[in-house]
Amino acid sequence: MKAIVLAGGFGTRLRPLTFVRPKHMLPIVDKPMLRHIIDYLIENEFDEIWISIGNHELFESIEKYFSENKVNAKINFIKEPKKLGGVGAIKYAIYTSGINETFALVLGDNISNINLKNMFDFHKKNPSIATLALVKTETPWRYGVAKLDGNKIVDFVEKPPIGKEPSNLIATGIYIMEPEIIGYIPEKFLDSTGMLFPLILKNGGQLNGYVSNAFWVDVGRPSSYLEATAYILRKYGKENWIDGDVKIGKGTKLVGPVVIYKNTEIGENCTIKNSVIFEDNKIGNNCRIVNSILDVGCKIGDGIKVSTTLGRGSILNNGEP
Ligand code: G1P
Repeated sequence: MKAIVLAGGFGTRLRPLTFVRPKHMLPIVDKPMLRHIIDYLIENEFDEIWISIGNHELFESIEKYFSENKVNAKINFIKEPKKLGGVGAIKYAIYTSGINETFALVLGDNISNINLKNMFDFHKKNPSIATLALVKTETPWRYGVAKLDGNKIVDFVEKPPIGKEPSNLIATGIYIMEPEIIGYIPEKFLDSTGMLFPLILKNGGQLNGYVSNAFWVDVGRPSSYLEATAYILRKYGKENWIDGDVKIGKGTKLVGPVVIYKNTEIGENCTIKNSVIFEDNKIGNNCRIVNSILDVGCKIGDGIKVSTTLGRGSILNNGEP
């Protein structure tokens, strides 16, 4: 079965982490986010996958990773010739891949265990231009919101104003589509994938919803990156993950989920809670790192409290040089 993964977004809400890598290559516990998505597709029996990558030199790391780390599926790359936006990227990927059968489309920042194989079967039994995986949320205004009548989507509003949502069922970035969807895609630039669905409904196309209670998160901001990390740790049955050579001083407490990558040193009597600390960090004594992400090579002086995202090589101290 065939699938397309869109990995073209610039991850602006994840800056400064995304100044130095595409968000799709952020590590989530033991592998890059995009590798988790590819493995998810393979677990659901997709064996030919096109990864559509953004038009920026940072995205070369994606191809490099997959040339050095082989997976059990055929991986093809599509290079977006310019910034296409989510909707333009779907059109370009269908056109370039030559896909002419039902396929899965997954946005390259969606971490989930929605049963894609069952969703594919549902789509075959309930034909439509596209089936959208839907989940319930308490913050529907942040997403594309669908209103259902049975399986049929009768209304879809992309990121409605707060209080104007047609329901609390939101579209994940996981879809099963027919290649004919290309006929509904306009020339104009549409940044978010979900902007396509109101146009399809307006032009008489049918869309169905596949409602799921499974885990789903879109890793668009630091808090959802930490949520995805917590989910992968739960999946592995671990509270914390220490990767390689890490020194942790006496009296320092890790309150999971915590991930610490190699060559990091943490002093004495610190608390590290719900955080990810990348490699080559040096953290002093009596520090408190909570709900934080520290990119590679940060230096944190004694007694510092951190509850934010720090870019590569950040230095925090109490005024000493
Ligand atoms: C996109 C879609 C939106 C969907 C969301 C899920 O939004 O446009 O409908 O709810 O993905 O990840 P974006 O991530 O582009 O803001």
